[in-house]
Order: sequence, then structure tokens, then C-alpha cells
Amino acid sequence: MDAKLAYWTAATLNMGVLLVFAASGIRRVRNSEVARHRSRMLTSVALVLGFVISYGVKLVALGREDLSIWSDAAIWTLRFHELCVFTMLLSGGLALRRGLALARTRALSESEDAPEPLPGALKGHGKAGRVAVFAASLGFLSACGVLSSMYGRALG
Ligand code: HEM
Repeated sequence: MDAKLAYWTAATLNMGVLLVFAASGIRRVRNSEVARHRSRMLTSVALVLGFVISYGVKLVALGREDLSIWSDAAIWTLRFHELCVFTMLLSGGLALRRGLALARTRALSESEDAPEPLPGALKGHGKAGRVAVFAASLGFLSACGVLSSMYGRALG
């Protein structure tokens, strides 16, 4: 298999796995299991960071894709996918920052000195997190579309 195709197949699988962790993290916090929510979400964040680093390595080692041979539909799917990933990175980064601040409050910490979390901080974190997970879901679906067009060109 072509190295670029193998790379994008692994990257799409990685995105599917991080979504499974994120969905499980949401279920945990809805069940009031904040520590488990934190660890599932941090695993998702680590998988996103792993992808970002691997993408830098891929650019150096394998270069960019040759979009001149892509159909218009495949290019638009790619642009939509990039927008989803960009939104996921921004809102996920915000949710992470707010989540790390919440971890120092009674939302997670059992320390006597820990302050109660502010309602606005809880709401803001949840909202940023939901936007990130929604963008990641659309990002995964569009990644599957981009990947299938790559397989179509490779096999066709
Ligand atoms: C780093 C440590 C984290 C802690 C301590 C934490 C804690 C919490 C807490 C206490 C809530 C409940 C908020 C409420 O009562 O309204 C919550 C909700 C949520 N968190 Fe986190 N979180 C963390 C990381 C993350 C990350 C990295 C993400 C995603 C990028 C995330 C996504 C979400 C989402 C989507 C919800 C809302 C779930 C729902 O719709 O019910 N969290 N988190």
C-alpha cells in the first residue's frame, strides 16, 4: 500500500478511537464520574496531539497530497474536514484549559482548600467541550469521505 494512503488510514482510525474516548467521557460526566471523565478526555486530547505531531512528520517525510488530480467534490470534502479539525482544535483547547482550571475546584478536587466551581465556569467548559466533540464527529465523517476518495483513486 502507498505510504500516504497507509498514513491517512491510520490517522482516520486514530480519529475514530479518540471519538470513542470522548463519547465515553461525556457518558462518565453525565453519570457524575468526573475523574473518569477527565481521564477519558485527556486520552482524547493525547490522541489529537499525537495526530498533530505525526502530521508534521508526514509533511517532512512524505510531502503534501497532489490535489491537482482530485475531483472538485473531494477537494470540497477536504476543505470542510479541515474546517472541522480547526474548530475541534480551538474549542477543544478552550475546553481543556477550562477543564484543567475546574480540576482545581471541588468539581474534582477533594482538598479542603479547593473552592466551589463557579456555575459559569462549568457551563462554559461543557459548551466548549460539546462544540469540540461535535466538530470532531463531523471531522471524522468527512475524513471517511476524503479517505474513500483516496482509495477510489488508488484502486480505480
Ligand atoms: C482536564 C480535566 C477536565 C475536568 C476536571 C472536567 C470536568 C468537567 C465537569 C465537572 C463537567 C460537568 C459540567 C457541568 O456540570 O455543567 C464537564 C463537562 C463536560 N466536559 Fe469536561 N473536564 C475536563 C476535560 C475535558 C476536555 C479536555 C473536554 C473536551 C475536549 C471535555 C468535554 C466536556 C464536555 C463535552 C462536557 C459536557 C457533557 C454534557 O453535555 O453533559 N472535558 N467536564
